[in-house]
Formats: sequence, C-alpha cells, structure tokens
Amino acid sequence: MHMKLGLIGFPIKHSLSPWIHNQFLEKSGMKGTYSIMEISPDNTFEQELERIKESGLDGFNVTVPYKKQIINYLDDLDKNAEIIGAVNTVVCKNGKWIGYNTDGIGYVIALRKNFPEIFHDKKNRILIFGAGGAAYGIYYGLKSEGFTQIDIANRTHSSAKAIAILGDNNVETSILSLDEAQESINSYNLIIQTTSVGMKPNTEDTIIPIKSLNQKSVVSDIIYQPLNTRFLMDAKKTGASIHYGHTMLLYQAQYAFELWTNKKIPIDNMDQQLKTILE
Ligand code: ATR
Repeated sequence: MHMKLGLIGFPIKHSLSPWIHNQFLEKSGMKGTYSIMEISPDNTFEQELERIKESGLDGFNVTVPYKKQIINYLDDLDKNAEIIGAVNTVVCKNGKWIGYNTDGIGYVIALRKNFPEIFHDKKNRILIFGAGGAAYGIYYGLKSEGFTQIDIANRTHSSAKAIAILGDNNVETSILSLDEAQESINSYNLIIQTTSVGMKPNTEDTIIPIKSLNQKSVVSDIIYQPLNTRFLMDAKKTGASIHYGHTMLLYQAQYAFELWTNKKIPIDNMDQQLKTILE
C-alpha cells in the first residue's frame, strides 16, 4: 500500500512534520509520501482544497492558519475536534474528508510518558497560560483525563472564559489575569505555557517572569523553537522539572499517523533525535 500524506498551512516550508512522518512511514514498512502543500493566504482556500481533493490523498495535517477554516470543507467531524473547534488531522476515506484534533491528546500522551506521577492525583492543580487553539485542545485533553482543577491565565479575559465553558461540574476553573497568575504560581503542580510569547525570533520575551516555584512542579512550554524558551529556563533555575515542547509535536503526529494507517509507531529515540535537531 502506498500512503499519500501531506500538510497544509502557511508558512510551512520549515515544518518538522515531513521529518517525523517519513520516519513513521519507514518504521511502519509502508511506502508513501508526506508532501508540503503550502497555501498562501493570497490564494483562494477553496480552490486550493479542490486541487488537493483531486490529488487523492489518504490523509493530511492542517496547521496555522487553517485549523478552524478547514472545518467548513469536511464531510464529518470527530467529537473532540468539534468541541475544541479546530482540526489538525484529516482522514480521507472513500472520497470523504473526516476531521480530527490530535494536538491536545498529543500533549497529554507526551506528558504521561515523561511525568506519569502527575496522573496519580487528579486533584493536582494545573495552570494553563493562553487561550488560543492549542490551549483549547490541552484544556479539553486534561479534563478528559479527569483532572479537576484547571485554571487559565490569559491577557484577554473573555477568550479564557470561552475555554472554561468546555468544562463541566467536575472541573473547577478560575480565570486569572497574568499578574494574578504570577502571584499565585507557587501553588500549582503543573504549569503549561501555550501562547506564542517567547517564540523565535523574540526569544527574550516571556509570558510572565518566573522567580520562584513549588520545587515539585512540572513546567511545560509547547513552543519548540527555541526548545529552551526563557519561560522554561527561568523555571529550571528554581529547581522545578521542565517538559519540552517538541514532545507534543511528536505525539500528536503519532496519533495522526495512527488515524491514517491504523498503525501506532513507537517514538523510541525520535524524541532525542528531534531534540538534537532543535538544539
Ligand atoms: P493559536 O490558536 O495558534 O494557539 P492564537 O489564537 O493566536 O494562537 O492564541 C495565541 C495565545 O497567545 C492567546 O492566548 C493570546 O492571548 P490573547 O487571547 O490575549 O490574544 C496569547 N498571546 C499572544 N501574544 C501575546 C502577548 N504579546 N502577550 C500576552 N499574550 C499573548
């Protein structure tokens, strides 16, 4: 079987997804291709999608800025993706396109792999910085795992409030300003940075300066360019454990590949290899 896979988004010329999925293809023993299909915002999205449809793909990933827009062109939508309101993986089957979201689940799997002890107490206090698409997926992924205390800190209160609506009676969520988060950061067991603040080239920026933390806390940043964000480096200095952003990239890809092929490929040393590429 020859799998025809790919990625749409903009800009994506430097995406790491081809590297990851080509390894998965090789390890699976399947033949196939994973193509970069950049769609410039100047082009008509609909026309570009028509061309992609004609090319007969088995599946493709969707990245910024099309994760929401793609939903209008799908034949079916997985429940998770519907709730999160964004799609990063499309399965093409019998001419139909079905949308999924593997980002939040990818984050949760990566976290469990690296810090399984966090999952032993679902009352662990969690703080998410940001309220964009990634935050939606992660909040929903952690809620689905049964965590009961997930707070959100964001520059804009209203967008954080919109995420909290995804919760239910089993989850307590407070919305914090960035200043409030800075003051109470010591009280969290898991802190997750999901905004774009600190991403290359603005590597000096940080969502909040970290001075002290609960030493037992785990701090994640989903940014992987650079791998060592200022946020993570500040956290490391306090003695907290840090969880790098490239692991989410790997595990969301693993789950996407499984949706396309029904094969779950072990990550093994790809974690270390990708880290080396990014360092
Ligand atoms: P995505 O959907 O890819 O996650 P997004 O929707 O642009 O990206 O969300 C980006 C997140 O980063 C938001 O939480 C945004 O905060 P606002 O809701 O207030 O816009 C946050 N963000 C981006 N730039 C920021 C900055 N300079 N300071 C604070 N927060 C910022």
